[in-house]
Amino acid sequence: MDTAVASPVDTAQSRYYPYENGKYEVKAGLTKLGAHPVHGVVESHVFMIDEHYRRYLTNKAKVHRTILHGHYLQAALSPVVRAVIPAFMAGKMAAEYPEVFTWEAERRILTNKLLGWSGQMDFESGTVTILSRQAAPLVDVMADIDPVDAIDFLALNVMEDFAFLARNPLTEDDWLSAVHISSPHYWDPRDKIGHSFAPVHRPVADAVPLMATASKIIRAAVEQGPFMRFAWGMAANDLMNHRPDAEHEGDRTQLGTETDAYWMTQFIRVERQTLTGFADLNTAFFTIRPYWYSLTDLMSEPERMRQLAAAMLTMSPAAMAYKGMTRTRDALVAFLERHSQP
Ligand code: HEM
Repeated sequence: MDTAVASPVDTAQSRYYPYENGKYEVKAGLTKLGAHPVHGVVESHVFMIDEHYRRYLTNKAKVHRTILHGHYLQAALSPVVRAVIPAFMAGKMAAEYPEVFTWEAERRILTNKLLGWSGQMDFESGTVTILSRQAAPLVDVMADIDPVDAIDFLALNVMEDFAFLARNPLTEDDWLSAVHISSPHYWDPRDKIGHSFAPVHRPVADAVPLMATASKIIRAAVEQGPFMRFAWGMAANDLMNHRPDAEHEGDRTQLGTETDAYWMTQFIRVERQTLTGFADLNTAFFTIRPYWYSLTDLMSEPERMRQLAAAMLTMSPAAMAYKGMTRTRDALVAFLERHSQP
């Protein structure tokens, strides 16, 4: 790799504060990607690569080795979409991170200079026809991994999880036609694949108004955009894979007597999500990039502690139950308020 070019893996991860208005809200909250500033900065990236690249890709490799069929699923994925979205992804990756990726569109070869592999893809069959490996700084991460197809190969190059949303043009019914999710937060991708927006979101507390506008949201996702949105909540650790049956026993245990020392081990988990529509294909490409911010780090930003406390106080009992915070919310707010004086 050219050592003169700064690598994105030397870049600190972005910091987002989606609770800054002091409210916990269950709403679409779509903003135009590339037009709307986030904390004063206009972002247009679909994919983000930063200091945690190795960690996220190591998690994806672990999922791949152990239970890929629980994380990568398809349902009535049309062959055209299977060809078009991967081509879009590869082009975007190379356009956004030319230091990391080269994309030979004619020959359909994507090379990753960090992970040290190249995949030649055939989008008609959806396969990786040739996979070759080269020396590279992170070559060990995927050394034993053979992608099962082109979508899987692309997933194994980015930090984002993603899903494809499909819409039937005759009935306007929508469904999830593909998911490649390695960092689900207390949900199982197998419960979501093939389902439409409302059932996918049924477990979410206070989501009745959101589900009532599902067709409007799907129309916007497919026909407008691209969009960005954020979701957030607390996390007891920064373990990446929280599929319900994965190993994270007891991390939502609530005593209600948690101490400052305990809270300092906790994280705010933020998801940066993007939506890119393909109106002529009745489909949208949805990305999810999770971030974990430790409360210890947040202590250097007292105003953010105050905003977080205010937002926590607006959670309904149903929202607290859904987020596993019924007994802990007040102790957390007290902690945040104690530390929100500059
Ligand atoms: C199209 C735009 C979308 C909007 C506006 C939206 C909105 C939301 C909101 C407001 C929540 C609650 C967040 C919270 O926990 O505070 C949520 C949760 C969730 N969303 Fe979405 N979402 C969208 C697309 C998707 C897609 C494409 C998927 C497919 C993977 C998805 C999967 C989920 C899941 C799994 C949850 C958590 C549900 C659970 O606990 O089982 N969402 N979404």
